[in-house]
Amino acid sequence: FMTHLSNYGNDRLGLYTLNPWDPLWQNPCHDKRHKDIWSKEKTCDRLPKFLVIGPQKTGTTALHSFLTLHPAITSSFPNPNTFEEVQFFNSPNYHRGIDWYMDFFPFPSNVSTDFIFEKSANYFDSESTPRRASALLPRAKILAVLINPADRAYSWYQHQRSHMDPAALNHTFHQVVTAGPSSSPELLALRRRSLAPGAYVTHLERWLRHYPPSQLLVVDGALLRSNPTAVMDGVQKFLGVTPHFNYTQALIYDESKGFWCQKLDGGRAKCLGKSKGRKYPDMAPETRAYLTGYFRELNMDLLRLLSRLGQALPGWLREELQSGR
Ligand code: A3P
Repeated sequence: FMTHLSNYGNDRLGLYTLNPWDPLWQNPCHDKRHKDIWSKEKTCDRLPKFLVIGPQKTGTTALHSFLTLHPAITSSFPNPNTFEEVQFFNSPNYHRGIDWYMDFFPFPSNVSTDFIFEKSANYFDSESTPRRASALLPRAKILAVLINPADRAYSWYQHQRSHMDPAALNHTFHQVVTAGPSSSPELLALRRRSLAPGAYVTHLERWLRHYPPSQLLVVDGALLRSNPTAVMDGVQKFLGVTPHFNYTQALIYDESKGFWCQKLDGGRAKCLGKSKGRKYPDMAPETRAYLTGYFRELNMDLLRLLSRLGQALPGWLREELQSGR
């Protein structure tokens, strides 16, 4: 089931060259010749119907947790090594093969009505993932959660501070995003990891080279935060999952957390952990102004792309493009 490809051009960013002997795993059941030699003991049903691809810090954990409340939706098991995401397509795990991947998924009790998924937030901006994902999961639906890329960058910076990253601890966010060629490699690396995933249009275009637009949904992460019920209605419709699940009953706003949480029996709230929805000061206005300028062209291209695709335009995107004109 491994296709050897001998001639890849460079990606348009020029950052990625594939080893010509890199495997490209395909679904054994999509090709009769493969299916005929695929073990009778094995199934092709332990593969996700949809992927939540990220990017990081946009609310992907909240989306994951809300999705799993749905009676027909089941997520992958956590990675036993990391207790976290599977991270198959974007990492050396890919070389472990599809049996390794399939072991993360339960056997669906009903293949047509069960929706199995996985969320790996690094997939969004990974160079290799769209090609690999579409080879194995050509019919999968793809969910990307987008917030203002300036807020995403700031959340990422705060995340790095919490993880004691020296470059984040020793520099203000403004110093990070405005770092120039004479800055230390650590600071430049932090700048890149804060900003690069926020070039949303570039990453979405790469996904759209491998998936038809009808299989892609852009989720407004700011709306997911403020009005998750509305977002989950749209997500269910897009996935075509039944029965329709009423999130109004399942979620509760927790005043002390400042976020929507799962409503337990008896009305108590079960919120995401401390690392999701951190408390930190607002971004400095001059840094926001800098980032508004930095992302302006990319955000305008994103607006054009989403309009062309007929995707709902996130409120933050309109607002961002109206500000500072
Ligand atoms: P902050 O901690 O910076 O506020 P991800 O899960 O993709 O890493 O995203 C984390 C972000 O999800 C948090 O970033 C938070 O703003 C956002 N978020 C959205 N809805 C949330 C919810 N219901 N509970 C906690 N965090 C939520």
